[in-house]
Amino acid sequence: MKALITLLWVAPALLAADKARIDVSKIPLPVPRKVDFTRDVYPIFKESCFSCHGPEKQKGKYRMDTREGAFKVTDDYGPSIKAGKSEESAIIHMVCGLIDEMLMPPPSDKPGQSEKLTHEQIGILRAWIDQGAEWPEGPIREVVKPVTFAGDIQPLFAQACGTCHSGASAKGAFSVDSAESVLKGGSTYGKVVTPGNPAKSSLLTILAGKDEDLPEPEKHKLPAKQAALVEKWIAQGAK
Ligand code: HEC
Ligand code: HEC
Repeated sequence: MKALITLLWVAPALLAADKARIDVSKIPLPVPRKVDFTRDVYPIFKESCFSCHGPEKQKGKYRMDTREGAFKVTDDYGPSIKAGKSEESAIIHMVCGLIDEMLMPPPSDKPGQSEKLTHEQIGILRAWIDQGAEWPEGPIREVVKPVTFAGDIQPLFAQACGTCHSGASAKGAFSVDSAESVLKGGSTYGKVVTPGNPAKSSLLTILAGKDEDLPEPEKHKLPAKQAALVEKWIAQGAK
């Protein structure tokens, strides 16, 4: 009996000590602007958390696609989201890997899955919580951000393809310098993009590293996320 009483006393003390050990000085700063839940925060939750904490699965009995669910006070880690105080919110501790074995999303050995949140994304979540963690009533109306060549695709291609497919000496006369040159295609393949129709765009086969006819198919393979962005760009009309 005495042991049990001691345990009951010690356990919360240990827990408090555990929390005190969380070093919040290392977490990325909130972004210095007003953030909007629907536009900025929901897409991060959707992309990185809902596969395990959404309508289908609720790992750790935690569900993030509803307000009630997302604001759960966890048994072991305090409030998941504490409005006004991002440095005391468990989701921030977790996405920064500050709690042992509880990095969220958990690391995965499958490439392209469960990528860590970027500093920018963590900064957005912090700013949202610090600004009051507003969550609009009713179903979320998702904002579909248009994918543009100038904003999304050009920087990606410049980095992944630019060394071989830029300027006058572009291999196979395929240049990634402008949307026009990408749409024009190369000397052997001709057009590789059909705007609005990903299924008829052989560029996606190339970017999946599956075009065995190319001299270096592996040099043409993009990470799944980037390939998905190119697919979106094509689906939206390749503008
Ligand atoms: C691949 C699956 C997966 C993804 C993706 C994922 N989680 Fe988790 N999460 C888990 C599992 C499994 C647990 C339970 C771990 C445990 O209790 O040991 C958990 C537990 C949690 C808990 C604790 C819940 C409680 O009541 O104890 C929080 C908070 C959490 N996750 C937040 C997040 C956030 C925020 C994201 C997205 C940035 C995320 N998770 C993405 C699998 C995932
Ligand atoms: C290391 C150099 C290199 C990189 C990097 C590279 N490619 Fe290539 N690519 C080639 C070579 C070599 C060919 C064959 C050219 C030929 O047939 O003369 C080629 C051919 C192509 C073709 C067919 C062109 C034609 O002949 O019609 C396309 C399309 C293409 N690449 C797209 C890309 C894209 C998109 C990327 C970036 C994700 C990329 N490549 C990255 C070297 C590269």
